[in-house]
Order: sequence, then structure tokens, then C-alpha cells
Amino acid sequence: MGNTILDSIEEMKAIDCSDMLSVIEGFSGQCREAVRLGRTVVLGDLEEIGSKVSSILILGMGGSGVSGDIAKSYLENELRVPLLVNKSYGVPGYVNENTLVFAVSYSGDTEETLSGFDEAVKRNCKVVSITTGGKLAERANDLGFQVVKIPAGIQPRSALGYLFLPLLVVLSRMGFVSEKQKEIEETISLMQSIKEIYGANIPVNENIAKGLALRLYNKLPVIYGFSGLSDVVAFRWKCQFNENSKIPSFWHVLPELNHNETVSWECLEEITKNFTLILLRDKDEPLGIKKRFDVTHELIEHKFSGVETVWAEGKSKLARMFSLIYLGDFVSYYLALLYGVDPSPVERIKVLKDKLAE
Ligand code: F6R
Repeated sequence: MGNTILDSIEEMKAIDCSDMLSVIEGFSGQCREAVRLGRTVVLGDLEEIGSKVSSILILGMGGSGVSGDIAKSYLENELRVPLLVNKSYGVPGYVNENTLVFAVSYSGDTEETLSGFDEAVKRNCKVVSITTGGKLAERANDLGFQVVKIPAGIQPRSALGYLFLPLLVVLSRMGFVSEKQKEIEETISLMQSIKEIYGANIPVNENIAKGLALRLYNKLPVIYGFSGLSDVVAFRWKCQFNENSKIPSFWHVLPELNHNETVSWECLEEITKNFTLILLRDKDEPLGIKKRFDVTHELIEHKFSGVETVWAEGKSKLARMFSLIYLGDFVSYYLALLYGVDPSPVERIKVLKDKLAE
């Protein structure tokens, strides 16, 4: 197996034709720019409507929609109004003129998001769009709605800083959540220092991300997070394994998985012995969750080829979430190279969108 490739920048670059590495390694810079975009977007009449808003809805699919999941997981406890993420056509029944809607689509041409946007407009919602352009920007501009215009040219899933941080900054500017300046600063500096240890220049024997990718080679990753912090991270890791590494992967969340999936690791042993369990943990996880991780680990570890426990780093919740997300970005990237696949293209998504548009 090509485990030497991860020690050769030239060999890595030969596979990574669209240079996803630079985008991943430049993530802290992307985040800085994203915060600036969120701070400078003119809110206009949105400044005054805060007290009338009774719910928040985030529209978005795939790499764009995950920004909504992050917002939900990060802010749910602090928000005084419900925040829901819609990953389908249209909008839920409760949506009315008091719902603040965010339409997040990197391309601006995703059919489900556009359908939600149109329906939200019909229901007289205020809509803030985060996009590089496309039909979404066109429609929003025609209606005089706010658009956070983000830079084009990378994969949507690599644009997580651009897709999530303006959302966070706007929510805080509108008074739905407290000022997050300190947390954002901590997160950005942590990403900067994490890059120095997971980056491509760091050799395999000193690089946690490369080491994990090597252990995951020829294994199917099953990722467990916990509600309120690493739930969305487990989903993000799974999607990054799907889209970057082009492998199947599964995820679930504690405590819910203890009520169903925990039972499943009984039959199909011949298959599941090729699965690796990844636990996304945090030193400050609630005691109940800590116990559940420990007991679940003990009960099912022998069913897997191995168990990898990954701990969040950083002080604030935002930094801890992003420390795990960023590790997953690196691991899925290195794993793609081990399989000899270019991490950037997602040909099947493109073919599917083209066929649906016919
Ligand atoms: C591709 C990717 C996809 C897209 C999704 C929605 O990198 O991550 O999951 O994000 O197909 O498209 P956009 O983001 O353009 O609305």
C-alpha cells in the first residue's frame, strides 16, 4: 500500500490535481476573510427586526448545509428562538413572515435551496443569502435582500469558513447570540497552529492526521460523536470521507445510538471486522456522555478492526468543534491520496445535478 506517498509532497501533488491541499492549509486565512465579509455586509432593515423574529431557518445542502448544522449544534443552547436546518425542497409549514431565513449555497444554483428560497419569499420571510453567485444571488439581488458574496473557485465543502462564519457573525450582529469575537479569534489561531502539526510538510511519524489516514486505509470508518458538540463533526467527517476519499462511511450520535445502533454489532462480523470505529470526544463532555463513550467502547470494540479516540482541543466550544472538523479534513484528504484518488472532483454529484436539470 502506498504509505510512502504521504511523505512526498511531489507525489501528493501529482494526485491532488486541483490543489485541495492549499485550500485546507489556508483555512485560517479563509476564516479571517469570512469574518470580515460577515462584519461588513450591510444589514439594513434587518438591524431592526430582531425582536419580531420567532424562528430561524437555514436552507442548504451538502457542504453548504453543514454550516447550518454547525450553527445549530453550536448555538442551540444559547438561542431564545428555535433554529432549524432544512435540507430538502421548500420550507416547513410553520415558516411565516416572522421566520428569519438564511439560504446557504456555495454555487447558488442548488435546486433544493432555490426552492426553499422561493417559498420563503412567498411567505414574506426576510432572507439572507450566503453564496458565490448563481441564481440565488440573482434572485436575492432582484428582491433587494442581503447577500454575503463569498469567493468562488473551490469545492463547497472546502469553503466551510466562508459558508459558516458570516452566518455566525450576522446572527450575533442581529443580537440572537452574544458577540463571538474572542471565540472566533481563538478558533482561527488554533487552526493556524493545528496546520503546523497536521500539514503536508510534517512527516508521517510525527503527523497524527497522516497516521490516522494510514490506519484507516482499507477500513470503513464508523464515526461516533455526541449531541451538542461532536454530532455535526461526526457527520462532517463522514461526508468528507465520502466526497474527498470516495469511500462509504457511517456516523451516529450519543446518547441516541445507545438505543439502537449499539445492538447492531452482533451479526455480520465478517464484514464489520473491516470497520474502524472513531470516537470524537471532548475533555469537558458531560459525565453521562463520558460514561456512555466508555461503556459503548468496551461493549463493541472487539467487533471492529480498531477503535480510534480523537479528543477536541481548545478552550471555547467553537474552537473545540473546529479542532475536530479540521482534523477530519486533513485525514480524509490524506486518505484520498492513499487510495490514489483526486480529493476534489465529485463527478457523481455533478452528473446527478446535470441529469436532474435535463
Ligand atoms: C461539493 C459538495 C456538495 C455541495 C452540494 C450543494 O464539494 O460539498 O456537497 O455542497 O451539492 O451544492 P452548493 O454547496 O453549491 O449549494
